[in-house]
Amino acid sequence: MTFGVPRPDKIDYYAQVAEAGRDYKRQVLAALDLRPGLTVLDVGCGPGTDLPAMAEAVGSSGAVLGVDTEPAMVEEAGRRVAGTPRISVRLGDAHALPLAESSVDRVRADRMVQHVADPAAVFAELHRVLRPGGLACVAEPDWDSLVVDPGELSTNRAFNRFVCSTMVRNATVGRSLPRLALGAGFEVLDVSVATPVFRDFEAADKILGLSRNTERAVRAGHLDRAAGEQWLAALASGPFLAASMVFIGVFAKPAA
Ligand SMILES: C[S@@+](CC[C@H](N)C(=O)[O-])C[C@H]1O[C@@H](n2cnc3c(N)ncnc32)[C@H](O)[C@@H]1O
Repeated sequence: MTFGVPRPDKIDYYAQVAEAGRDYKRQVLAALDLRPGLTVLDVGCGPGTDLPAMAEAVGSSGAVLGVDTEPAMVEEAGRRVAGTPRISVRLGDAHALPLAESSVDRVRADRMVQHVADPAAVFAELHRVLRPGGLACVAEPDWDSLVVDPGELSTNRAFNRFVCSTMVRNATVGRSLPRLALGAGFEVLDVSVATPVFRDFEAADKILGLSRNTERAVRAGHLDRAAGEQWLAALASGPFLAASMVFIGVFAKPAA
């Protein structure tokens, strides 16, 4: 029984997710088609994990700007990129970005839209700040797609229902990316799905919050305690598998 596992520190948590998601992150970086001299905006940059790779791709004639609403993230990202003049980090909200219209060549948003109050307004902002002909790459999960083995299918489904209804604001926004992009005036160049697979329960538990959210679901009355305990015991007994989809959309702002 593994109830009661505390939520990790956010910065540690994002580092663990970045490690587990390195394949899809590589895919996002490639889709951005970064070249020397370009200006890139990373909206919801978190602790700045991917800012150095983007800076390397745009070279000394380019620039990278990270924006995040959380002061602790901006501080950590600032520490990470200190001493690299072409990277800057600012506090800012994706609903009202601190940037002029058509001022960047590329926009990246990695698992940020799942948290925002108004995804359509955020897409309108991404479109506003991007120059005509520029590219945006947005990666978002679909928390309803989590599948695990072994364990009761009905408990897996109840867990997903709880996470989607209670824990993550826009839990299934991944599947809506092309619709949101079209609504904001983007052209949809590509939509693909990356599916990180976990074979280790402990690692998956840290990233996917299996124990934490089962406990919350039980306490909130969404899941029977015995069913939750049996499910976690089965998952921890191994062999174990979990997989969950991350949608990756590549969008262009049509040239004027
Ligand atoms: C799951 S983390 C991802 C961080 C980073 N993109 C990465 O790949 O490691 C989501 C980030 O989006 C930020 N965020 C949430 N809402 C935001 C908003 N309205 N504007 C800007 N950033 C936001 C959070 O503070 C958090 O740092």
